[in-house]
Amino acid sequence: MLNKNLFPFLKTINKKPKAYSRYTTPDLWCTPYIAKQMLSYHLNQETDLASRKTAFIDRSVIWMAKYFRINAQTKICDFGCGPGLYTTRFALLGAQVTGIDFSKTSINYAKATAKQHKLEINYVLQNYLAFSSMKKFDLITMIYCDYCALSPKQRRQLLKIFFNLLNDNGRVFFDVSSMAYFAAKKATATLEYSAGKGFWSAKPYFVFANAFKYDDECLLLDKFTIVEEKRIRESYNWLQCFSKKTIADELQQNNFKVIDCFANVTGESYEKNSPEMAIVAKKQTKF
Ligand SMILES: C[S@@+](CC[C@H](N)C(=O)[O-])C[C@H]1O[C@@H](n2cnc3c(N)ncnc32)[C@H](O)[C@@H]1O
Repeated sequence: MLNKNLFPFLKTINKKPKAYSRYTTPDLWCTPYIAKQMLSYHLNQETDLASRKTAFIDRSVIWMAKYFRINAQTKICDFGCGPGLYTTRFALLGAQVTGIDFSKTSINYAKATAKQHKLEINYVLQNYLAFSSMKKFDLITMIYCDYCALSPKQRRQLLKIFFNLLNDNGRVFFDVSSMAYFAAKKATATLEYSAGKGFWSAKPYFVFANAFKYDDECLLLDKFTIVEEKRIRESYNWLQCFSKKTIADELQQNNFKVIDCFANVTGESYEKNSPEMAIVAKKQTKF
């Protein structure tokens, strides 16, 4: 039997939403069933879906230790620390470490790892957009292009938080998707079926995956519409892409100055076709 509602429904799914019209990130990381899948992706050595693989993280922390001269005096705050893959390594270098994440599943895993290694790490289960502390840090990290998932307003809010948390000579280190990444991405629409125990639900579902491109804004959206027998959900994953100039301008407008730019968080040299950029910035001092 033909369902006449199907065509308009599919048309709605395929309609490009207004830029940053919805923020569903907390559902993606904090819904208990999905958070469990995410944790296994963080730890899975076959995929870079939630965290990069161990060999990359090891290389990255060895490079950061040297570049930022991490030692027992260094106070580090890692925004979106996930299961503590970087925070654990920073603490093993002797640094004084805080990690913030709103995924209970990830924070519990990170805390258990710290206990196992007898490390004192201050883990905070919280939305980092509302984080404040009397403590001041020498280094703030935000790794795996989390900055790109935030709207312009949220990014301004975050940079204010960074500004207030940093020591005068402190540095912030984070990675973003580049214009080369934006250029390579194509707008697509696909449909998949899971018979059960899939990524989005233990129950059977169809998932419509729409990749949208916003040329004027250099913005990407991966939108997922998950259709189960008794409910329909949407997940919006925004990805703001930057050029060296647009990220430098954005930081400058928020009282930061870029002092270095690399191809990624292992400190490789940035080239025009690098899909990412890793930015080191300092507070801009006003005279
Ligand atoms: C792509 S993962 C990266 C995790 C970690 N930085 C790594 O590379 O292994 C993003 C992390 O940020 C967390 N996250 C995203 N938005 C957040 C928010 N507003 N407040 C707190 N944590 C957030 C997620 O729960 C997730 O653990």
